[in-house]
Amino acid sequence: MAADISERALELIPDGAIVGLGTGKASTAFIHALGAKVKAGLRVRGIPTSQVSADLATKLGIPLTNFAEVESIDVAVDGADEVDPQCNLIKGYGGALLREKVVAAAAKQFVVLVGDEKEVAVLGSRGKLPVEVVPFALDTARRRLTALGCIPVLRTADGKTFITDNGNYLLDCKIAPLVKPREMELAIQDIPGVAGTGLFLGMADVVLIQKGDKIEERRRSR
Ligand code: A5P
Repeated sequence: MAADISERALELIPDGAIVGLGTGKASTAFIHALGAKVKAGLRVRGIPTSQVSADLATKLGIPLTNFAEVESIDVAVDGADEVDPQCNLIKGYGGALLREKVVAAAAKQFVVLVGDEKEVAVLGSRGKLPVEVVPFALDTARRRLTALGCIPVLRTADGKTFITDNGNYLLDCKIAPLVKPREMELAIQDIPGVAGTGLFLGMADVVLIQKGDKIEERRRSR
């Protein structure tokens, strides 16, 4: 049988684990696989990164918890939009970057599931970096991002301004490949009103890359 990244990620989930549930296609496949395991007797509790993933988990019978009840997550599983050779990521094309970063940061192990089309030599190669901003700061943040060399574009969906699960806006910044991603992350985080960026640097522990029938496993060196 062909190897599958969702099934491989399941092997990393021990009985009794608190599991971070990502958002997007890869995460949806994983949540379905986890739901089947829960039906078969695996005991876990999930912390979802979006309302969509919370609804799916509930539908599949995966019990949910939150940070009022637990201090940390054992394993968080999520997708990504870009992965570089050092396991740094760009995330947020699906709009859930802020909660995804909170969950990833609280996880003892952060596992990322991608297809090989997400591999890049340098972050930013796909030309987009999502940045979440509070509505009051939209215009000031937009100007500050432009001064950093980005071209911020307000995300819309179905002709309306896209609103995140946190009630914020997304500025999809058109960017060139990032020679210094850490500097860019610090500069953007320094803008008042920025709630989070899609740069996930030094956070992923394991990246599972689906390559046809095979899986490449990449681990971050510490
Ligand atoms: C959601 O905000 C994103 O960070 C997703 O995790 C990312 O866009 C990957 O999604 P897919 O698995 O749908 O490509």
